[in-house]
Amino acid sequence: MSLMNPSIREMRQELSVGEQFVVRYNRPGPRYTSYPTAPVWTDSFGPHDFEQAIAAADSKRSPVSLYMHLPFCESLCLFCACNVVIQKDKSVTPPYLAILKKEIDRIARGVSRDRHVSQFHWGGGTPTYLSPEQIEDLFSYTKERFTFAPDAEIGIEVDPRVTTPAHMQSIRKMGFNRLSMGIQDFKPETQKAIHRIQPYEVTRDLIANARQLGFDSINVDLIYGLPYQTADSFAHTVEQIVDLSPDRIAMFSYAHVPWLKKQQGSFVKFLPEGMQKFDIFRSGLLKFLEAGYLYIGMDHFAKENDELAVSQRNRTLHRNFQGYTTKAGADLYGMGITAISGIQDTYAQNFRDIPSWEKAVNEHGLATMRGYRLSADDTLRREVISRLLCHTVIVKDEISKQFGINFDKYFAPELERLKTPQEDGLVVLNEKEIRTAWLGRIFIRNLAMVFDPYLEKQQLDSKPLFSKTL
Ligand SMILES: C[S@@+](CC[C@H](N)C(=O)[O-])C[C@H]1O[C@@H](n2cnc3c(N)ncnc32)[C@H](O)[C@@H]1O
Ligand code: SF4
Repeated sequence: MSLMNPSIREMRQELSVGEQFVVRYNRPGPRYTSYPTAPVWTDSFGPHDFEQAIAAADSKRSPVSLYMHLPFCESLCLFCACNVVIQKDKSVTPPYLAILKKEIDRIARGVSRDRHVSQFHWGGGTPTYLSPEQIEDLFSYTKERFTFAPDAEIGIEVDPRVTTPAHMQSIRKMGFNRLSMGIQDFKPETQKAIHRIQPYEVTRDLIANARQLGFDSINVDLIYGLPYQTADSFAHTVEQIVDLSPDRIAMFSYAHVPWLKKQQGSFVKFLPEGMQKFDIFRSGLLKFLEAGYLYIGMDHFAKENDELAVSQRNRTLHRNFQGYTTKAGADLYGMGITAISGIQDTYAQNFRDIPSWEKAVNEHGLATMRGYRLSADDTLRREVISRLLCHTVIVKDEISKQFGINFDKYFAPELERLKTPQEDGLVVLNEKEIRTAWLGRIFIRNLAMVFDPYLEKQQLDSKPLFSKTL
């Protein structure tokens, strides 16, 4: 058992909450990949604002993180809430890649060559929808236009069902060192209901291939709360995952957002809800902890010696749109449809559909659909929320010094609102710090929400915005 996990017995005890508790805390809330969250951003922030942000950021000489969105998939998984374009006919890719190259050119012009790329991530959709030749071409094109740090993290999302040994050879040869693959669940009934048939052997072989090729880190995605899952069936899936021994696991809560993704309505009758969903989560969590993985927070696990775990212990862990990261202080430049950039005190998001994105790139080089410039209060709250999610503790003095405030005065209403979670055993408050208990680490979104003043207004709107926190 690791130093950071409490004993499994203690954990079982802390997690033995009742139905009422789950109902109270399982409510709609953001995942805080950004603060303020995307619904707060405005259409009045356009490409010219983003251009200014790019110029201002370049003079700061921060490290660079690049994200490339490759939206295509061959078939639709019914649970999927990602920004995808389903297309069997692969002739859609050359025109997409041509526009993407124009966008890469424009971004590269705004990033001086003495700034180092510390992170490069390809997400989707399914980047391995592209052929190995297309992947090599796009990768080389980008590499020629930026300066990569020798130890850059270069990651790609792959779908085991469509990723061939030739893809794997190519991506490793190009320099990708991190692999992330979707699994979701091995239960056949669940796979059938979500339209994602992915035999265990296919995943096992891909992981074995990745090991042979020497990838530094292998991540797998699971989802709890899918149709037909039970606590026992999910525990069995987790046992199979533990045997495959990935370095990191993302065990996402199924985000049910049928107002955005209509196809999710098809299996709504078979979804585990409330206490049932919590039991599935709990069985997965306990299995991973028993196997020696550390719970990093917000659905993520890592092996004890993984740098995510080390950096959480040292309180140097950060979060960005791709989740937890050890690379702090980088400006993130996103390319492709829907891609998000987070540069200094601004966020910018690209158009979501290919025609609008293409038109904007052709007109301006950039395709900003909406964005946001943070106020001083936003910047302070962003730091508080980030510390809560990454370090699970907020040391009041550190924030007071960094922002020239008196924490207790500034956050008096928030401290008052934390009293109920304190009574419920989620958080421990004292003069010096706000420290999350185990239960609070699981319902961390609820604790972060206390510091988010925009929610009150958002909840007044009748339209649902966020999935539930459990
Ligand atoms: C871009 S996909 C991963 C790569 C590849 N397309 C695949 O599916 O193997 C990103 C991940 O998002 C997660 N995801 C998608 N929709 C979700 C939802 N509604 N709730 C929770 N997680 C979701 C899945 O775990 C999925 O593996
Ligand atoms: S889960 Fe992956 S493969 Fe399935 S539709 Fe979403 S992005 Fe595509």
